[in-house]
Amino acid sequence: MTSPLIIVNFKTYQSAQGPSAEQLARVMESIDTEARLVAAVSPLDLSKVVEAAPELEVWCQHLDPIGFGSNTGWIHPETAIGRGAKGTLINHAEHKVSLEHVAMLLDQVPEGFEICACAADIDEAKSLAALVPNYVAVEPPELIGGDVSVTSADPEIVSGTAKAVRETSEHVGILCGAGVKSGLDVSRAIELGVSGVLLASGVTKASDPLEALKDLVSLL
Ligand code: G3P
Repeated sequence: MTSPLIIVNFKTYQSAQGPSAEQLARVMESIDTEARLVAAVSPLDLSKVVEAAPELEVWCQHLDPIGFGSNTGWIHPETAIGRGAKGTLINHAEHKVSLEHVAMLLDQVPEGFEICACAADIDEAKSLAALVPNYVAVEPPELIGGDVSVTSADPEIVSGTAKAVRETSEHVGILCGAGVKSGLDVSRAIELGVSGVLLASGVTKASDPLEALKDLVSLL
């Protein structure tokens, strides 16, 4: 089995922006684990985070399928890659885009650059899986930022997404997220058929992020 993937989305939490993003990345980098840990950071923080934690895998939180040129305010993939991004989230519940946007981005990025497309439900997960991103992550919007993990609140959406994505393409990895906070949540996710988790507040709002991260990987 490949190592479980744990993506920590820094969002725009104050505890995970600017110098605090660099500090949190260093803490992630210090975790001794078989799991693959990824920090999904603001494009504004990419360079500094990569510099601060060179051993940590760093992704961008969003990208736009545009090239060099007249594209004010859009996030340019080649520039993000030049700044050290190894992958991106796309279509997050807090930054929805069209299927066409996802498809164009997949066409544009180079081989090896990973894309995790986020879905609100099983149907959306299937539509995204048909585009064959590296991962589809299912996150029920109503559970995002809450205290109850999707793996306890709605285990059926996790196992249902795993089944639906697997039927659509065997090349797409499957993640779940929303409310994930503990090692138990991560191991339940794996039992439900996914290969990792996407989370934010469990780490970014933790009183002790190091302990939160250690707990997340403790049962792997
Ligand atoms: O991208 C991860 C996210 O939407 C889930 O957030 O705070 O529920 O872990 P959270």
